[in-house]
Amino acid sequence: MNFYLKVLLLTLSTVLIQHFSRFFYIVQGWGNSLLKHYPGDCHVVSGFSTYGSEDMTLLPDGKVLISSGMFGLQPNFDYSKSQAKGIIYIMDTNKSFTSVEKLDVVGWPESAHFEPHGIHYWEHQNKSVSVFVILHMPEVVARFTYDGRKTLTLSKVYEDKQLFRDLNGIFVTSEDSFYVTNIFHARHQVQPS
Ligand SMILES: *[C@@H]1O[C@H](CO)[C@@H](O)[C@H](O)[C@H]1NC(C)=O
Ligand SMILES: *[C@@H]1O[C@H](CO)[C@@H](O)[C@H](O)[C@H]1NC(C)=O
Repeated sequence: MNFYLKVLLLTLSTVLIQHFSRFFYIVQGWGNSLLKHYPGDCHVVSGFSTYGSEDMTLLPDGKVLISSGMFGLQPNFDYSKSQAKGIIYIMDTNKSFTSVEKLDVVGWPESAHFEPHGIHYWEHQNKSVSVFVILHMPEVVARFTYDGRKTLTLSKVYEDKQLFRDLNGIFVTSEDSFYVTNIFHARHQVQPS
């Protein structure tokens, strides 16, 4: 065989072997390390008296706020007849991962419907925290001052009759701004085929 042809074949096969070995190495997952998370240390948290927990947020001080009481999702739910009240719970992860307590909400009219959903917070420069909560019926975002213990005090209500339709998630971007999402609505009507 011609010397140059031999060199060419040798080079080609070396390149191919190198490619296949690398492919095989990656496909086999050699060199990856897998850390096992699942199934984890799961347990049921006690202390809830409402149902339909929807969202939660972990504050910088280790407390988790959990919104609960999504009544509107029940079929034929009649708001005018219901006395049901949603609740925001708190779990202090520095103390316990097994139970929650109810937060006091100050400033929201006692007679008004209270149905908390999406929840997020803003930490001010002075380290105090404002909590933003999506509420249904009326469809608003409410901002509360958190006292660091068990009380939320209403400080502002945001309303937008056109864009707040069926609010769902919230992400706070400053002490006076946020992103929200709507559910059950499409920008364009989707026709079933
Ligand atoms: C509680 O836990 C958080 C971390 O989740 C920590 O930053 C904070 O200092 C803790 N607070 C107390 C009072 O131990
Ligand atoms: C912390 O800062 C916020 C925002 O500027 C303000 O509304 C709040 O009153 C301050 N809290 C304290 C305890 O100074």
